[in-house]
Amino acid sequence: MSTAALLQVDGIHKHFDVGHGAVVRAVDGVSFSVGAGETLGLVGESGSGKSTVAHSVLGLTKVDSGTIEFEGLDLTGLRRNELRGVRRSLTAVFQDPSGSLNRRRTVAAIVAAPLVAHGIGDRKARRARVLELLEHVGLGPEFLGRRPSEMSGGQCQRVAMARALATGPSLVVLDEAVSSLDVSIQAQVLNLLRKLQRENDLAYLFISHDLAVVRFLCTQVAVMYRGRIVETGPREIVFSRPLHPYTHSLMRAIPLVDPVRAREQISVTPARDAIDMPTVEVGCRFRTLCPVGRDQEICRTVDPELKPIERDHAAACHFPQVDEAAVVAAGSIPASLPGSDDAGDNRLVPDV
Ligand SMILES: Nc1ncnc2c1ncn2[C@@H]1O[C@H](COP(=O)(O)OP(=O)(O)OP(=O)(O)O)[C@@H](O)[C@H]1O
Ligand SMILES: [Mg+2]
Repeated sequence: MSTAALLQVDGIHKHFDVGHGAVVRAVDGVSFSVGAGETLGLVGESGSGKSTVAHSVLGLTKVDSGTIEFEGLDLTGLRRNELRGVRRSLTAVFQDPSGSLNRRRTVAAIVAAPLVAHGIGDRKARRARVLELLEHVGLGPEFLGRRPSEMSGGQCQRVAMARALATGPSLVVLDEAVSSLDVSIQAQVLNLLRKLQRENDLAYLFISHDLAVVRFLCTQVAVMYRGRIVETGPREIVFSRPLHPYTHSLMRAIPLVDPVRAREQISVTPARDAIDMPTVEVGCRFRTLCPVGRDQEICRTVDPELKPIERDHAAACHFPQVDEAAVVAAGSIPASLPGSDDAGDNRLVPDV
């Protein structure tokens, strides 16, 4: 990852007390960084802690311990009003396109809201900026007076992007921002994200359970499992040479025959035992499902640290490995998506 990190997250923990002495260790010692202009894909099954990480970075959840530095400032020590200033450079887009927009307000008011909140420009300047932002995301002036109920999911998500860009951020957190869109609209929004990134030198923390989408958009990947990052590295290296048995299992779940159908099926489903996670665990938390470590003493007793296995490719595993089957399976994850503008040599999926 980049040496001058824009976002540096170190050892964050967030545990939720869910009553009767039970604690959910939603985030349990997570560290990562995002460099300027970079896209880190945070992938993992439902409940692995991705949104809790996003909320922590955005200051919507207060972490129990650890530090979150953004542009050199430790966010964990800031008060609410101090965080407001930071939110000019650190914005977000969430999953539900219409639900995340105020249904009673017009597009003009929605996109101008961050400008008003941060006292940017007068009425006239704000209107000009809103028009410019809408044009950036491919919406004409006819959308100014519309309300979320009068637009499609893809159009709403474009408005959410325009709002997220209004204050000129350097990092946008996207939590399942394209997950509820149908495949062709999803490809359009992903292309838009790429275009906006190039034009505005943006960095993204891109959260998704969809490996195909992560492969399309991200430069770096971090795989989460039960509150921990279990593998991280540059996108192509993680996808072509996964090291952690959990990452292998994600890759193996992908059918090899038809990449178009595979594209629809690549999603991360919860591990069988993910529901009743014990409060206290020793050893590796993947061991009960792990074909390699299931019977190993060290996996039962020692919690593996996330450490570099080959250069900037790290895994939290006592027995990291590359096997042929996983490499073949990883090769079947489409490097471009239907309708996307990524028609390079690695294109596997035809236009639809
Ligand atoms: N406010 C809360 N109170 C109690 N438990 C919570 C709270 N928020 C999250 N959790 C629990 O923390 C764990 C991680 O949740 P989180 O929403 O971060 O997962 P996720 O990876 O984003 O999942 P998904 O892919 O379904 O969005 C889950 O077990 C969840 O039930
Ligand atoms: Mg989530």
